[in-house]
Amino acid sequence: MHAYEQYVDKVLIDEGTLQRRVGELGAEVSRDYAGCEDLLLVCVLRGGVLFLTDLMRRMTVPHEIDFMAVSSYGVGVRDSSGVVRILMDLRTNIEGRHVLIVEDIIDSGNTLDYILRMLRERRPAGLEVCALLSKPTRRQIDIPVRYLGFDIADEFVFGYGLDLDERWRNLPFVATVRSDYTES
Ligand code: PRP
Repeated sequence: MHAYEQYVDKVLIDEGTLQRRVGELGAEVSRDYAGCEDLLLVCVLRGGVLFLTDLMRRMTVPHEIDFMAVSSYGVGVRDSSGVVRILMDLRTNIEGRHVLIVEDIIDSGNTLDYILRMLRERRPAGLEVCALLSKPTRRQIDIPVRYLGFDIADEFVFGYGLDLDERWRNLPFVATVRSDYTES
């Protein structure tokens, strides 16, 4: 038995299903940005890392990557509050460039709303969102999502970039956590 198995309630999205969808998204992005010479994928650390690296391997259009890190002050570890702070900014000047933000999950929408407003002020030529997961019933702010992997229910999930107490981001699938799990 693997150590993570004691925390798994059920595998919500298995590896094959995830990879198929990421492949479809990669193809869709490549079609839409065909001919674009200045595409920049912006990954929001840390959860988006696995999705970014798989997505870019399924893309056929030339692109660059950059990273930003934000933190949200929440009442609990699992809730973002709407107050977002930049921990690490982009290295790239995005003025006049086509930017695609790559995120693992949209919950309340607060994080992406903040990031979108901030990046829009830098006058990119285009600014779109590609998110692997979304919990529509949790949304507090409407976010324009151009590319979406899966809508999921309001359950705590981990794996494939998403953490359970900072661990298990490496799992190749997305799982729900057992109801008797308590954060350490
Ligand atoms: C997660 C996720 C989004 C945000 C979504 O990040 O990666 O950035 O929460 O929540 P929201 O829509 O309610 O704002 P988290 O703060 O867990 O950081 P991590 O990616 O480093 O785990």
